Amino acid sequence: MDKLIITGGTQLSGELRISGAKNAALPILAATLLSEKPIMVGNIPHLHDITTTMELLGRMGVHLLVDEKMNIEVDSSSITSYEAPYELVRTMRASILVLGPLLARFGEAHVSLPGGCAIGTRPVDIHLNGLMKMGAEITVEGGYIHARAKRLKGCRLVLEQVTVTGTENLMMAAALAEGTTILENAAKEPEVTDLAHFLNKMGANISGIGSDVLVIEGADRLGVDNLHYTILPDRIETGTYLVAAAITGGSVKLKNTRPDILDAVLEKLTEAGADVTTGDDWIKLDMHGKRPKAVSVRTAPYPAFPTDMQAQFIALNTVAEGVGIITETVFENRFMHVQELQRMGADIKLESNTAICTGVNKLTAAPIMATDLRASASLVIAALAAEGSTLVDRIYHIDRGYDHIEEKLAQLGATIRRVPN
Ligand code: UD1
Repeated sequence: MDKLIITGGTQLSGELRISGAKNAALPILAATLLSEKPIMVGNIPHLHDITTTMELLGRMGVHLLVDEKMNIEVDSSSITSYEAPYELVRTMRASILVLGPLLARFGEAHVSLPGGCAIGTRPVDIHLNGLMKMGAEITVEGGYIHARAKRLKGCRLVLEQVTVTGTENLMMAAALAEGTTILENAAKEPEVTDLAHFLNKMGANISGIGSDVLVIEGADRLGVDNLHYTILPDRIETGTYLVAAAITGGSVKLKNTRPDILDAVLEKLTEAGADVTTGDDWIKLDMHGKRPKAVSVRTAPYPAFPTDMQAQFIALNTVAEGVGIITETVFENRFMHVQELQRMGADIKLESNTAICTGVNKLTAAPIMATDLRASASLVIAALAAEGSTLVDRIYHIDRGYDHIEEKLAQLGATIRRVPN
């Protein structure tokens, strides 16, 4: 397993280009299963989760052609299998996103049940209940979800809880269902919106995009000639580099991003003492060498503060002035990074879903272990501020979601290197 060695203490400075959003690329690649025509998808990030998705589609018989700029041409007209096998699903829960499209287009899908996960139980009951209400017959046998439906039927669905991939799965299924589906209490994350725009470009009829009520008129078939779609920028990658710059007292400009989908994060960075300026597609952050001030955040579905930025803000608070209270309301058990940060000298107390962080003067390097994707990002951020050289193990978690992280951080002046196993 590769490791990262990071020597802290350098103020990050410079410019960086943000990659396409992982959480938009995954559902959009799954949605290409709905199209009868080939599609070109651009701004795809270079990530393990994308490779896994390509392998998943490839095993179904989908033709994929990637160019050197990570544009992917996807042609699902040659599909021969409707299965998402366990060995792929277990490495990436988002594989569940093929369930809705396969069922809606081919009337059949066999998807391994994702099972537990490091950041909570993360069930898929809302996905399955929604599809059953649309007329699917679903059984779970041998660890697999087996779904069948001659043709799904549109209906009114009120989601019990806001779920991002659940909304995406049901929206994709509804796009090819008979009649109208009304999806209430839908997730409003920008990546859900990006998928909805993509589906409409493909010929779907979705309205209410960006709100929590989506109205989807089912089409008989989907697919248009010469569709080229560009994935939106990754707001979590953006936020992660902004926090990395802030914790080191640095100054960075991030390009090819979208400040308008980062309001809650930028507000908290400003509260932490950063000077934040924005243009249409860039964000500049300058800490002027200052120590950050502790901030309190409460995670919740978009447009509130994202759970995928929670770990990074805990890292920021570890060396900030004052006490910051971080409350996690989206996932249970999403504080795996806390123990590792404590090993570096952080003062954090956990009380159920709340982390109380009292800033210390300095963190010290220690061997630490990445436990999940965003937790890993918080450890890298802490290491950038720590005294000495930190060894971060199990970084395959980072490679799932951060495009060339060591090259990008090195570009900003960080002392970081990958040690292959
Ligand atoms: C997506 C994102 C992930 C982000 C999360 C919340 C992708 C590929 N991943 O994950 O990065 O952290 O949204 O913004 O887009 N739940 C149920 N039953 C269900 C589905 C969800 O109880 O059927 C619960 C979950 O356990 C969790 C909450 O709903 O407590 C939100 O989860 P959800 O939005 O579904 O997360 P994901 O879509 O898996």
